[in-house]
Amino acid sequence: MEASPIRCLVSAGPTREYFDPVRFLSNPSSGRMGFAVAEAARARGWDVVLVSGPVALPDPEGARVVRVETGDEMHAALLEYFPDCDVLFMTAAVMDTRPRQCSPHKVKKDQLPGVIEMEPATDILADLGRRKTGQILVGFAAETENLEANARVKLERKNLDFIAANEVGVPGSGFVSETNRIVLLSRDGGREVLGPAAKSELAGRLIERVGSLLARARKGREER
Ligand code: CTP
Repeated sequence: MEASPIRCLVSAGPTREYFDPVRFLSNPSSGRMGFAVAEAARARGWDVVLVSGPVALPDPEGARVVRVETGDEMHAALLEYFPDCDVLFMTAAVMDTRPRQCSPHKVKKDQLPGVIEMEPATDILADLGRRKTGQILVGFAAETENLEANARVKLERKNLDFIAANEVGVPGSGFVSETNRIVLLSRDGGREVLGPAAKSELAGRLIERVGSLLARARKGREER
């Protein structure tokens, strides 16, 4: 009997946090890394659900794409697909903070506040890490300093299996860049440097790496 395809969930792009219906806070994530991961997973024959914040990229062929805006919308969409996935690649640049209040009406410019009061936003990946049953969780850490030490702390804190750490704020790596350099850290202490390379190539390497782990896990289950 043919094995059922691996079910892969990917998040991508930024989130937006509004303080009135036409104004929001966000970040410059292009979504390229997540879309590249979704494409690489499709190329390997996996079932792919891609949950994406607002980006200017077309749907990857064959993937189910759910477009969202806010962190709460992204969280809800991921919660829907997470229980049935084998692996989650959380590439989204989720806002860590959001305006405490959102006016239901457009605020007149002469009434705009000089200071916007903020509150912490939900850490979606940490929440999914607490809920995981057998899924492989791959986080992405954006760091400007102490890349590996900071990424390892996130790996533990969010109960991940892998974290792809990348340096932001340097040429050739990060949010809007076409290329990236990733240090892939695993829960068992493993460390692998990928790139610098095009995000599409790195995505292929990540899918290969996780694919072989999933294949071993499936084989182990079948032998039991
Ligand atoms: N993440 C998330 N929800 C958030 C913030 C981050 O799910 N509110 C996820 C990201 O998608 C990424 C991982 O957590 O996969 C690490 O994100 P990063 O921004 O590097 O770390 P933070 O947890 O936000 O910590 P810090 O900002 O202090 O570096």
